[in-house]
Amino acid sequence: MNIRKAGILVLALLMLLPAPALASTLTVDVKDTTVEISDMLYGLSMEDINYAADGGLYAELLQNRSFEYEDILNPRESAHYTGWALNMTESASSTVALGYENPLHENNPAYMQVYAAKGQYRFANLGYQSTSAAGGIPVKRDQTYRGYVWMRNAGDFEGEVEIVLARRGGSSIAKAQRFTLTNEWQKYEFSFIANQTENAILCFTVYGTGHVDVDMASLMPADAFGAEWPGGGLREDLVKAMKRLNPSFLYFPGSSAAEGSDYSNWKDTVGPVETRKETMNAGGYTQSWGLGYYEYFMLAEALRAEPIPVVHSGVLNQTEGKNAESLSLIDTLDYAQDIVDLIEFANGDVTTKWGALRAEMGHPEPFNLKYLAIGNENWNMVYWTHFDLIYSDVKAKYPDITIISSAGAQAEGTILNASWATVRDRYPQNIVNEHTYMSGYWFLNNTKRYDSYARDIKVFVGEYAVHEAVSSNGRRPNSLYSAICEAAYLTGLERNGDVVAMASYAPLLAREGLQQWTPNLIWFNAGDVMLTPNYHVQQMFANNLGEWVVKSYFTGFNQDIYHVVTRTDDVMYIKVVNAGNVEEEMNLDLTGVVDEDVCKTTLTGEKNDTNTFGTKNRLEPMDDYFRIEGGYTTIILPPYSVTVMTFNLDKN
Ligand code: AHR
Repeated sequence: MNIRKAGILVLALLMLLPAPALASTLTVDVKDTTVEISDMLYGLSMEDINYAADGGLYAELLQNRSFEYEDILNPRESAHYTGWALNMTESASSTVALGYENPLHENNPAYMQVYAAKGQYRFANLGYQSTSAAGGIPVKRDQTYRGYVWMRNAGDFEGEVEIVLARRGGSSIAKAQRFTLTNEWQKYEFSFIANQTENAILCFTVYGTGHVDVDMASLMPADAFGAEWPGGGLREDLVKAMKRLNPSFLYFPGSSAAEGSDYSNWKDTVGPVETRKETMNAGGYTQSWGLGYYEYFMLAEALRAEPIPVVHSGVLNQTEGKNAESLSLIDTLDYAQDIVDLIEFANGDVTTKWGALRAEMGHPEPFNLKYLAIGNENWNMVYWTHFDLIYSDVKAKYPDITIISSAGAQAEGTILNASWATVRDRYPQNIVNEHTYMSGYWFLNNTKRYDSYARDIKVFVGEYAVHEAVSSNGRRPNSLYSAICEAAYLTGLERNGDVVAMASYAPLLAREGLQQWTPNLIWFNAGDVMLTPNYHVQQMFANNLGEWVVKSYFTGFNQDIYHVVTRTDDVMYIKVVNAGNVEEEMNLDLTGVVDEDVCKTTLTGEKNDTNTFGTKNRLEPMDDYFRIEGGYTTIILPPYSVTVMTFNLDKN
């Protein structure tokens, strides 16, 4: 081959190779700011679905502690014994039945009547997921557990009731405690120090003969978060996971309350826990309300988050077609007063009726409530008619409360548009609650959604998550890719932080194996917590939020790059998302930063990776540092990555 031919061949081969990618450039002048960002942008939307509260955040270890469980699809007596094992001593002539006569409280109507024939009769609460190895009542060696049970001698009982923590086989793992009973309902308190780590049960043994009535039992770790609250405490590990998200608000108790199969009234969720009324929630299970509105206010305060209670609007779940089951307008007028009373409960001084109840429950200072959501996923005339009755009463007494109104369940379409039109026309002071459960493709294509929104009415992106196709395990995955697409979307929310006032991923919590809905932000089981890549994105964004958006100019060809730049007085944050499968080299050309080692936090991995309880740390953000001098450097953005960089600012 002569030299000319060889040259042509080399040239041809070179042309076949992919062209080296050109680095893109992000140019920023830190002084060039645009809009002010809402300081409430990132918060939490809590709802009792997926056993998020009962069986989850709420530290109660017993399931169905007051025999009120019902089965919505198949009403039957046995549902009332869910979570309980009966007749463990196999006494043929002993019996149990449900009692309703002279209950502990009218809101707590069912109780268990035990007739012990002779000798002993044993029953036990098995906790949640008692048939799985990891279920039951998880107790740790040397830790203290406190509990109580309401009981009475139904007239003819001679003997004692013994209570103890035990292995599933029945042998005790703590010192048993015994009680004699009176003829009135009485609360019997006990505490145990577990002598081993165990998935335990709580055994009740009736020694003697005759009738005993049993209701409302409880068992919680003595050191639960807020253990002193009237409803009881919360799981410390889950509260910690929530805290790390640095939430600016807590929306509660979520759609399960606003759209459950029963109406729930906040008044039935406060006061002594045995007087609270259990209801069937949107997850299709009975919700105890031990974690009631008061405890949610306390949690919001502990998280330093604005409390945002949501109340149902007088209309049940319209997504499930329950328009016809709305409250009558007359009933809604009464109900509107209940909502007005909720504000008095939160903010009234202790001389007011509901402020006094708050004080009695342990919090004389007001909770300083500023926001109230009426309805969660409601729309059309049925909603607005009911809404208006509540709105008018609330505004008449509390004109400064900001109302959040619903805009249906869809991220786009006629319902959303009509809801906006109604707000613009009649309630321009409202914040509009948009829900966005869409594909990753949609999220990436809608990062500019809010660029064109009018700035006068604010948006609460109250529920959002990327919904990918259901995988072979029947779940929509919490994949890295879903988190990447959410991160890209969040760059758009931050850039529009003047009109997007608040946003929260939903749902927040799910108990592994008891979920009705996927994906979820935080998964947990009896004793462990598993954070998703979606959680890590929330944490990276919420902990690095500026006060103003800084103008930024991206030059490059890669369509998979999304970014936002924000700053406070002292610090600038650059967030960049690479949603594609190719590494990106990016020059940073920054005016106004100091020469320094910059912290760069990156979340990356394989597109479809997920975390599991066995591989909890597979996807988690990693920190490293790079040097910037003279405001210029080059960084590498891995494929499928979210990167957050923090720069100190030059004050001169
Ligand atoms: O958050 C999960 C569900 O999403 C809620 O129960 C409902 O409001 C919405 O459809």
